Amino acid sequence: MAQQGYSTQAPKPPHFITTADYTAEQLLDLVHRAIQFKVESKYNHPQPRTERPLSGKTLALMFSKRSTRTRVATETATAYLGGHAMFLGSQDIQLGVNESLLDTSRVVSSMVDGIMARVKGHDEIETLARESRVPVINALSDKYHPTQILADLMTIHEHYHHRKNNVTDRYTAHTQHPRETLSGLKAAWVGDANNILQEILVAFPKVGISVAAACPPSYKCDEDVIEIAKADAAKTGASVSFTTNPSEALKDADIIITDTWISMGQEEEKAKRLQEFAGYQVTMDMVKKGGAKPDWVFMHCLPRKPEEVDDEVFYSDRSLVFSEAENRKWTILSVIDALMVRGGI
Ligand code: CP
Ligand code: NVA
Repeated sequence: MAQQGYSTQAPKPPHFITTADYTAEQLLDLVHRAIQFKVESKYNHPQPRTERPLSGKTLALMFSKRSTRTRVATETATAYLGGHAMFLGSQDIQLGVNESLLDTSRVVSSMVDGIMARVKGHDEIETLARESRVPVINALSDKYHPTQILADLMTIHEHYHHRKNNVTDRYTAHTQHPRETLSGLKAAWVGDANNILQEILVAFPKVGISVAAACPPSYKCDEDVIEIAKADAAKTGASVSFTTNPSEALKDADIIITDTWISMGQEEEKAKRLQEFAGYQVTMDMVKKGGAKPDWVFMHCLPRKPEEVDDEVFYSDRSLVFSEAENRKWTILSVIDALMVRGGI
């Protein structure tokens, strides 16, 4: 049947579905601009912002799962640029209920200037992007979480930039571009083979950060993700490895990362997962035995549950988790600015 009134000839808008779609330089420039937004907003440096380029524009947040950080970051970032963020939760609209995702995306994208969507299957965000007339940002799918890993790159950059340059004031202007600080580091992942690890795999090796992942037997990343990671690593000189032994992954690690063992939508597998992840809790003892670098740091996208990392590590001086959470705002601001103000990444 003819699809009346919908032109397939319209130019395709830019999207942000996974960092795998962008080059290292594009990702690092997004991080660089995120830092400029942070410094400008918190310090009024070099001067307070007066421009509101999203004035009169709306970003729809179509979320079929819960969110604290991504939602707050996106709503405040949109407001900072003068736009309106419209939150549409799964109870509010016909998001895959009573109406197909295809119809919903055509309807919503005909009225707004951008869409940020948190979905279940990755095919849902791909459908949205294919059908939308406006930029679509992936706010988490079962496969990827690109805005999270952009914030992680920013947080790692800040940490090493400040350390190398003896910066004690966290919000001062940066003297180095992230391309100068990240390459050569090693990240160790101890936990589930989930969306966060998969986004790390398609982003970190590309910017020169090695990744060693320890996941329990039978928890494995998608083959296409592993292929991308290995191909990127071969170009930058980084390494990518998988093991079931946390100690092996932790050897010489600069950065130790984990996430919940029970992602949203996996609640019914809780008992089985708690058993299968026994021995994977990140503790000082585990890290010491594994032989991480003396000045290792800890990261976690949050929300955190105590089973995957104990309080001693989570609340220690080595933990970057709360700056990592705040940096969601500045990196999402940078993505919105790129897609909705500047017309592309
Ligand atoms: N890290 C993250 O995406 O957190 P929220 O689920 O709270 O948005
Ligand atoms: N892996 C987690 C990340 C939450 C931000 C989930 O998908 O629920």
